[in-house]
Amino acid sequence: MKIIITKDYEDMSRKAANIISAQVISKPNCVLGLATGSSPIGTYKQLIEWYNKGDLDFSEVTSVNLDEYVGLEVTNDQSYRYFMDNNLFNHINIDKNKTNVPNGLADDSEKECERYDNLIDSLGGIDLQLLGIGHNGHIGFNEPDSAFAVGTHTVELNQMTRDANARFFASIDEVPTHAITMGIKAIMQAKKVLLIASGDDKKEILKKAFFGPVTPEVPASILQLHPDFTLVTTCDLSK
Ligand code: F6R
Repeated sequence: MKIIITKDYEDMSRKAANIISAQVISKPNCVLGLATGSSPIGTYKQLIEWYNKGDLDFSEVTSVNLDEYVGLEVTNDQSYRYFMDNNLFNHINIDKNKTNVPNGLADDSEKECERYDNLIDSLGGIDLQLLGIGHNGHIGFNEPDSAFAVGTHTVELNQMTRDANARFFASIDEVPTHAITMGIKAIMQAKKVLLIASGDDKKEILKKAFFGPVTPEVPASILQLHPDFTLVTTCDLSK
């Protein structure tokens, strides 16, 4: 595990974008695993800036997103498809047909989960997976549980996660109750994993996840076992 401590959110975003750029430059047809939330917005902005300067080319990149709410139309500004289009895909030369987000509107969500895992397998897995972390240690929407959930699955979001995400909705009642998330297997099989976290409110969970026991009660803790895992954070974990 490599830990990079950064000055602030901008610095974190630049350093994370550097790692993603290195991936895209060294393997132009790579598979990027992407995340939503407030953590990666700055990283995506930085990538867009470098793309606009002519330093990055996403034309051969394929992306697979971690998760999607169940029941939100893709035109809903809180859907993760909408987030990705607006915060990244619409601003770079990625082929939209090569951008993948779980379908939260699928009639049969079990089939959709199977399709998503097969898709990741057919792409040869993920080259670089970008992650954020929830205050309860979730990655994607893999919530604390008694066992690690292996494949893509539908989850009932716990109260802490719904409360944390309520800031983006008009009221807590509008926050979806379920989501589809990539499982731990695809994340752990990614060749590289990059987790970004900013703000002192993330410090406690980062310490638990990366200096505590590996346990499904803290899903991110499994990343301690990943052979190429980098944490880029504004939190000084030595204090
Ligand atoms: C989003 C995702 C979530 C977030 C996490 C942190 O696709 O998978 O696990 O990364 O909830 O969210 P922020 O970055 O908003 O603190």
